[in-house]
Amino acid sequence: TELSHIRNFSIVAHIDHGKSTLADRLIQLTGTVAERDMKEQLLDAMDIERERGITIKANSVRIEYPAKDGHTYVLNLIDTPGHVDFAYEVSRSMRAVEGSLLVVDATQGVEAQTLANVYTAIEADHEIVPVLNKIDLPASEPERVKEQIEDVIGIDASEAIEISAKTGQGIPDVLEAIVTRLPSPTGDRNAPLKAMLVDSWYDAYLGVVVMIRVMDGVIRKGDNIRMMQTGARYGVDRLAVLKPAMTDIAELGPGEIGVLTASIKQVRDTRVGDTITHDKKPCEKPLPGFKPAQPVVFCGLFPVDNAEFEDLRTAIEKLALNDASFTYEMETSAALGFGFRCGFLGLLHLEVIRDRIEREYDIDLITTAPSVIYQIHMRSGEQVELHNPADMPDPADIDHIEEPRIKATILVPDEYLGDVLKLCQDRRGIQLDLTYAGARAMVVYDLPLNEVVFDFYDRLKSVTKGYASFDYQLSGYRTDNLVKMQILVNDEPVDALSMMVHRDRAEARGRAMCEKLKELIPRHMFKIPIQAAIGGRVIARETLSAMRKDVTAKCYGGDATRKKKLLEKQKAGKKRMRQFGKVDIPQEAFINALKMD
Ligand code: GTP
Repeated sequence: TELSHIRNFSIVAHIDHGKSTLADRLIQLTGTVAERDMKEQLLDAMDIERERGITIKANSVRIEYPAKDGHTYVLNLIDTPGHVDFAYEVSRSMRAVEGSLLVVDATQGVEAQTLANVYTAIEADHEIVPVLNKIDLPASEPERVKEQIEDVIGIDASEAIEISAKTGQGIPDVLEAIVTRLPSPTGDRNAPLKAMLVDSWYDAYLGVVVMIRVMDGVIRKGDNIRMMQTGARYGVDRLAVLKPAMTDIAELGPGEIGVLTASIKQVRDTRVGDTITHDKKPCEKPLPGFKPAQPVVFCGLFPVDNAEFEDLRTAIEKLALNDASFTYEMETSAALGFGFRCGFLGLLHLEVIRDRIEREYDIDLITTAPSVIYQIHMRSGEQVELHNPADMPDPADIDHIEEPRIKATILVPDEYLGDVLKLCQDRRGIQLDLTYAGARAMVVYDLPLNEVVFDFYDRLKSVTKGYASFDYQLSGYRTDNLVKMQILVNDEPVDALSMMVHRDRAEARGRAMCEKLKELIPRHMFKIPIQAAIGGRVIARETLSAMRKDVTAKCYGGDATRKKKLLEKQKAGKKRMRQFGKVDIPQEAFINALKMD
């Protein structure tokens, strides 16, 4: 296709502002998919994505659009992931296109997540077309939201397109704007092949499918290619475009977006942002900005039932095939037995993987306290990366410890600002900026990642009744007074509950955990001390008193059915417990004990 007849774009939107619905409408209006094949939200393939309302894996579609000027254009939409954990992937997909539609829900306005992605688009030199969605709703305020886009983002919104992705109103204007307002790609057909690896995924029938954007040169079926960053070489088995069904194509030239298969075994052999070139006639330099995926949050995943360890291994291996940024290694814990230490891009990524293991593979899991990566500087001058509090060296040998920090941006309605500031302050935050956009405040905080990985999102949502939006990026490492806190139940350390904490917050944290555990652990026939300790020193203590002989006797008197119910409940509860020494600890205790109020 001629460069002037190609338009490549992505859609930037906050969760729920209507990205998928708009994409579906664009596909529908251009007849890319027959009406009867049209499923709601075609682009969100996975169940969990749909259920959680988030798009995790990038996806793309090629649309043919006969424009008013009489030419037929090829429009390539790249669907970018919508969550902070995938900021790098977003930045790469943005580099693969020339423009963005900025979709803002006209009843809601701009959110923190939108901001981050718009800035990524601006950095990639995108032309941006603002689109106000949901104008069919009486609560929509297009004029106010236009003003807000200009105030907060600083781009001209006077020609924003008002649409309803639900009713279809305004969709033809969007298609026309893509052609008239977005630039066409550039590139040299005669130069050596230079293509960006935009995304990859595992398909049960095809193996690894790689999505590429050709910058220069031409790629054809049968070509021998090389990935410049990993050095791996492959022969192209198949070349296709997504309409959105995979449709074979003879070649892809500059500006074009498509997919290839090349007998690649695992998704980990493909790195987002890598440069694909011809093995025999390579381009001079790879594309700039490549970064291998680096997990930032780690936790242990253990089967509740030890007999399920092999099933867990299979599940984890399968998931890792399709996810280059998820890492794992075997771990053994005195209390939990065999399991895996896993690394994730962020908390949401962790939750998604955990949910998939539990649901798709039906394995009950114990998740240990999430941990970030600490840089431990030893007195000997050696530097150690700590992923697991259990591996903490002897404090006597440590000179100092550095922890990762983030720059967090929070957008919140004025009335909740006080609560948000308090939350950030409580989490050792340092305020960097506070500005207003209409009735909403934008606060920027420097926070330790370790204070965010537990339940920061949950807390933020609850103190703002869901009205705050949040985004972050890693900003660097800083030395602080960090210690390892252990929890002892009945005098036995429960390694799964060990965590790194700031010294000043250790007592409060330890006390809260002991109190929580006291509620979460059922009474036994004997007294159980629950303690928090640093080194050998106990800093908090609770005692769970012994159970009376017959639990059912007192509360339920003679009512036999209720008595039976209670006993059944206890039996079901037993299954989800783990034994520590002489004490049974329910599975929920591991997660809930870590939540701070
Ligand atoms: P993620 O895929 O989760 O990022 O969300 P999204 O931005 O793709 O939003 P999605 O298209 O799933 O839309 C979110 C909700 O808003 C859905 O319930 C849609 O039916 C609804 N919705 C989308 N567009 C419109 C619209 O124009 N009007 C109305 N009334 N509802 C809409």
